[in-house]
Order: sequence, then structure tokens, then C-alpha cells
Amino acid sequence: DKGGWSSFMAKEISEEPEAVAKTILGRTHDGLVQLNELDPIGDEALRDIDRIVIIACGTAAYAGMLGKYAIEQWSRIPVDVELSHEFRYRDPILSDRTLVISISQSGETMDTLMAVKYVHDKSKAHLLSVCNTQGATIPRESHAVVYTHAGPEVAVASTKAFVAQVTALYLIGLHLAKVRGTLDDAAIRAAVDELQAVPDKLAEVIDVAQGQVGQLAHWMTDTQSVLFLGRHVGYPIAMEGALKLKELAYIHAEGFAAGELKHGPIALIEPGQVVFVIVPSPRDPSSLHPKVVSNIQEIRARGARVIAIAEKGDAAVLPFADEVIPIPLAGSLFEPLLAVVPLHIFGMELADAKGLDVDQPRNLAKSVTVE
Ligand code: M6R
Repeated sequence: DKGGWSSFMAKEISEEPEAVAKTILGRTHDGLVQLNELDPIGDEALRDIDRIVIIACGTAAYAGMLGKYAIEQWSRIPVDVELSHEFRYRDPILSDRTLVISISQSGETMDTLMAVKYVHDKSKAHLLSVCNTQGATIPRESHAVVYTHAGPEVAVASTKAFVAQVTALYLIGLHLAKVRGTLDDAAIRAAVDELQAVPDKLAEVIDVAQGQVGQLAHWMTDTQSVLFLGRHVGYPIAMEGALKLKELAYIHAEGFAAGELKHGPIALIEPGQVVFVIVPSPRDPSSLHPKVVSNIQEIRARGARVIAIAEKGDAAVLPFADEVIPIPLAGSLFEPLLAVVPLHIFGMELADAKGLDVDQPRNLAKSVTVE
């Protein structure tokens, strides 16, 4: 039931705040993270882990990339993110000190399921599943499962499941940080507070972005190609924005790490090329903000039409962007959860403006059950 919305995708985007809130619910205690679901693996084993491998496909893999940034920063455990269908075909190095985290909304994606079975049969690695579907096959083949509570996702394009997956991975990262003593309680509480503030901020972004992004999409029905740039946690968001345009609006789209621009992709910039740029916060202690602003100047000088997704009040981007989509203030690791929403809306609105089937794009299935 679309509940009065024009599509399941529109409904599911509106449920992104709730998906995050419900995924956190019952998993904190006294301001800290309490993930009893990890008990089957056990804190002792988690203290011994020397490497994490995240396996997933599509949007779930981009959630995994965000998980890598957070888990490495908080728990200091090295994390690799691999596409499930690449992972098991190269004799991966696994031991009883490896934690393999699979991410799947459906829990039935064959590529990921086969990779999980491979780990199960060929190694002593610990298998943790992040899944949105109770009792699905992938969690049943794993040692432990942290369910995302996004509710059923019907539209082929994954939206609310993505933000819920990132939330679950962040909770896992904070649990690991506690168990391994890499963050003190005050730092964990601060991160939990940030995460708990995300749903309200998401609601604000949806509110602000809807009209603005809808209008942009209506101007762009003839656009042939769109590029997306981001850095650090903005990079997976750039890839996610591009994937949504491909699958929903059938437009050639590519996401790049902004630092890679000068190593090739800048040659693609010609007058009129539309480029979305995910801008890091100017408050970020790294020097990424000025670097991305200077990327914007470089592409603008070559005639690109720049649409910046930037923190509210970021005056530095205003003179150089054709359009700025504002997002609320948040810590660097939490910004991508907000920046992704305008891109979800954009993909949907552009597909809609082109008269395409938003919920059921051509050639795609909600859950890919063949290898
Ligand atoms: O059910 P899963 O999370 O395992 O699905 C993974 C991908 O097939 C899925 O995210 C796909 O990329 C979406 N259609 C993207 O919007």
C-alpha cells in the first residue's frame, strides 16, 4: 500500500528518518551502544579480530564503504569493502581473526549469499549479517545478525534500507570501540548522540530538498550525462547518487572521488556538463573543505553547471555553485546520511519527470536471486 504517495519510492524516502530511528531503538543503554545480537560471536572474539571484510552489492556496498570509514576511525580495525561477486573468486585471505560482515536489504541476493556460504565452508572467519528481512537466507547462514528496522522496502531502488544499513554499521563500530577500548565512554556517548539526532535532521532535509530538487529534475529531462563528486564519506554518496540516476532515469552517470578529478575525469568537463558536488563541512578539521571548493572552481571555470550539496550557511560555495542544496550541521561521519537524501529524491523526480516507472525500472529486480 502506497499510503497516498505517488510511488513506493516516494513513500520509502519519507520513511528514511523512521528507518534510522527504529534501527537505533533498543540498542543503546545509558548513552552507550548495547548490541546483544553480537553475543553469538562474543566480546572475546571481537577483541581478537585483526581484520574486517565487508561484502555486499550495489547500494548496500556503498553503505559498507561508509561503515569502513566509521569502523576504522572508531575501532582502529582495518576494514576492506568488497563486492560479493568479486570476493570469492580470488581465494580471499581469511582466518579465525577475520570478521566478515555481509550487508543485504533482502537477505537473498545470490552473489552475497554465495560469498557468505564460501566463508562458512572454507574458513573459520566470524560471519555477521546486516539484513532488513527477518529470517532471510543470508542471516540464517551467518553466526550473528544485526537487523535493520527499515520496514519492507518495495521500490527496486534502495533508499530507506541504505540509511538503516549505515546506522547498523555505525552501531557495530561503536560496539567494537567499546569492547576494544579504542574510544572512551564520553566519545561513544557523543557519537550515539549524533546518531540519535540524525532522524530529525533527515526530516528537515526531506522538507527542504523536495521542492528544490523536484524543480531541478524538471529542468533536466534532456540531460545525457551527470557526474557526482565527493571526498572521504562524500565519495560513496557520489557513487550512490550516480547509481540511482542510472537505474531510475537511464542516464549515464558516474561518481568520482573529487581528488581523482585531475587524474583523468576533468577531461569530461565541457560547457553545460551537470556536476553534483558533495561538499564537506567547513568546520571539518581536515583540509577537505577548501580542496573540494577549489575542485568546484576548476570545473566551473570549464563551464560545468555545479549543484552543491553543502552544509547550511557554507558561504564559501555560494559564489561558485549554480545551485546549493543545504543540509543541517552534523559531524563528518554523519553528514553522508543527510547528503544522500537529495540524491535519492533527484533520481526519483527525474525518472518521474521523464515518465518512467519509478518503482520498477526496466531490466531490474528488487532482489537479484541469480549469480
Ligand atoms: O537486497 P540487497 O541489499 O542485497 O541488494 C543489493 C543490490 O542489488 C541493491 O542495493 C541495488 O543496487 C539497488 N537496486 C540499488 O538501488
